[in-house]
Amino acid sequence: MGASLAKQMRSPEPGTCMGWMAQKIMSSGSGVDSVDAVSVLKLEVEAPTIVELGPGAGYAMRSMISSFSPSRFYGIEISDAFRKGLSEDAELKELIEKKVLSLHGDDAKDLGFIPDNSVDLIFAHNVIYFLDPLDVYLKEAYRILKPGGQAVFGVKQVAQAMDQSIYINTDWDVCLEEMKKAGFETAEQKEPRLEGAAAYIPLVCTKK
Ligand SMILES: C[S@@+](CC[C@H](N)C(=O)[O-])C[C@H]1O[C@@H](n2cnc3c(N)ncnc32)[C@H](O)[C@@H]1O
Repeated sequence: MGASLAKQMRSPEPGTCMGWMAQKIMSSGSGVDSVDAVSVLKLEVEAPTIVELGPGAGYAMRSMISSFSPSRFYGIEISDAFRKGLSEDAELKELIEKKVLSLHGDDAKDLGFIPDNSVDLIFAHNVIYFLDPLDVYLKEAYRILKPGGQAVFGVKQVAQAMDQSIYINTDWDVCLEEMKKAGFETAEQKEPRLEGAAAYIPLVCTKK
């Protein structure tokens, strides 16, 4: 994959050919892997507060909403193109009007509008590669999580074959080390799931 498409995979720009192509690639397959990642989540909190970093086309977002009935859901998505698509979705629009769901164009490194210790789950599928520098994002994730909360980062091996100047974080051991340095008490690479293009690995960290 060329650097220009890799850049658009990090955050597709509206009105560009490469941005359109990146959106098509990320929207293909109905998000089977990110929806699977939601299906294995263990979240035993009633009406949780959830933050999703980089929801893209929103497959996992819809799945988390129907599985967990969150009382509050923050979607942090820097791509105007993806935010526009999410805000026009009829089901999501209703939740935005009810103030359950809010979509933010902020970079996930500064989520000052989310209080300390207020979030039960942070979910970020196919996103960690792009977070630069990773320690800043992880500190912010740690700040907003409640004690007992978890952050789940889905990753794909194929990211290691991408342009490493854009896919910055593709060594999973280093990612887990960074999670521990940020304060997370546990940081684990779970068993790989699915096969072929949908194959992914969950990296899960918890705050005690
Ligand atoms: C490869 S896509 C993954 C989309 C979706 N999670 C999925 O698995 O299909 C990466 C997403 O993360 C978003 N993103 C990248 N860096 C971000 C950042 N620093 N803050 C918020 N969103 C970010 C991009 O705009 C894009 O939607």
